[in-house]
Amino acid sequence: MTLSTIIQHFPKDFIFGTATSSYQIEGSKLGNCGESHWDTFSKRKNTTFKNQDGSLACKHIDNWEQDLDLVANAGFDAYRFSLSWPRILKDGQKEKNYKGISFYDQLIDGMLERGIRPFATLYHWDLPQALAATGGWTNRDTCEWFADYTELVMTQFGDRLFSIATLNEPWCIAWLSYYLGEHAPGLKNFSAAVEAMHQILLAHGKSLAVLKDLGHKNVGIVLNETYLQPASQSNADLSARNLCDEIYNRWFLEAIFNGQYPTKALKLFENLMPKNFQDDLHLINQKLDWLGINYYTREIVKNDKTEKNLGFKTYHGNLPKTAMGWEIFPEGIFKILTTIMDEYSKLVPIHITENGLANPDYIKNGHINDVDRIRFYEEHLMQIKALIDTGVPVKSYFAWSLLDNFEWAHGYEKRFGLVYVDFDTQKRIPKKSYFDYKNALTQKKHKT
Ligand code: GCO
Repeated sequence: MTLSTIIQHFPKDFIFGTATSSYQIEGSKLGNCGESHWDTFSKRKNTTFKNQDGSLACKHIDNWEQDLDLVANAGFDAYRFSLSWPRILKDGQKEKNYKGISFYDQLIDGMLERGIRPFATLYHWDLPQALAATGGWTNRDTCEWFADYTELVMTQFGDRLFSIATLNEPWCIAWLSYYLGEHAPGLKNFSAAVEAMHQILLAHGKSLAVLKDLGHKNVGIVLNETYLQPASQSNADLSARNLCDEIYNRWFLEAIFNGQYPTKALKLFENLMPKNFQDDLHLINQKLDWLGINYYTREIVKNDKTEKNLGFKTYHGNLPKTAMGWEIFPEGIFKILTTIMDEYSKLVPIHITENGLANPDYIKNGHINDVDRIRFYEEHLMQIKALIDTGVPVKSYFAWSLLDNFEWAHGYEKRFGLVYVDFDTQKRIPKKSYFDYKNALTQKKHKT
């Protein structure tokens, strides 16, 4: 089935959108933005591909109108974007950047004028450097500052935002950044990671309370879920897989939906957990209006006692891979969501807030024929349709990403966009996947 045929089968009110994030597209040295820990991290040697950073990125600060036109012209109903904390508050606390505030004012109004629903994320990884300097997510005060920043965003823009996510991918914010060291601040410190694993959820809880108090009715959080498969059926591999699942996935689901942490992971972390962490769980366990899921791949988990803190290792198997080296495993999203619905979030609407692939795209005769990306979207959307048919309340799907952009430690080498960006000239060239979406969404609109 083609993308267009598949999309015609979706419910009338299903929302199709596309997504980006602030640091990956805006240009952090433009518009008087404060410094974030991604600016400092990428200045350190060997942290990112060819020492690239987000200082210019897609210069979205200058090109936002053109970019919103691209969203609207493809027929997307919604745009998922993030607000940069240091662009709004340069020091993360008090120093307002009026240029930044007026940028988001225009951007949000620009979406509404074009009939695009704004799906905002408050934190997609650009922590103000001033707060990183005092410990970042290992410092409990950061949660308080995040709540204050939430209040400012809510008062400035809240009534115009269709939905608000507190955080994007707490696992990446805590584990990938403080334990695996791949993202800012680039620590490989077990005890800092454990503190961050709790504190990031506390920040979510405090922010959610503010949003609810101020009356927003459509608030959620975005989790990245990786499908985890045991390397074998041996007891050792099965138990390694379960521990990994508790750290990667269930840590967040259990805390958010059940107000507790999963037992094995907690046992491993217990001595390093912040004092009286139990007292925070009620805040973390507040009711959400929706749950956002980012899905990309599966990983295989193997028992490995040489991994001193954890006793397991994860790797990618032999399925065809994207340019990131990630296996393409569309069934994973079906399996993950049926498990979540059965075990956690009965009746909470689900948004698929990210799904997509990096591809070695190139221009030939002015065109980018990204057939692998189109196939990827087709296969994943078929799984989403099957989920809806079995009664899982999936309400939207966002293609990651609108534009090729700064793919974190991979710099500009990995292209995820529906639209190609020539980073020398900032020219945008829609790829074939963009035109296929446009065709599919236009047909869907005519039908309804
Ligand atoms: C994430 C982030 C995005 C990435 C995307 C591709 O989910 O990791 O939200 O910023 O660019 O996922 O890796």
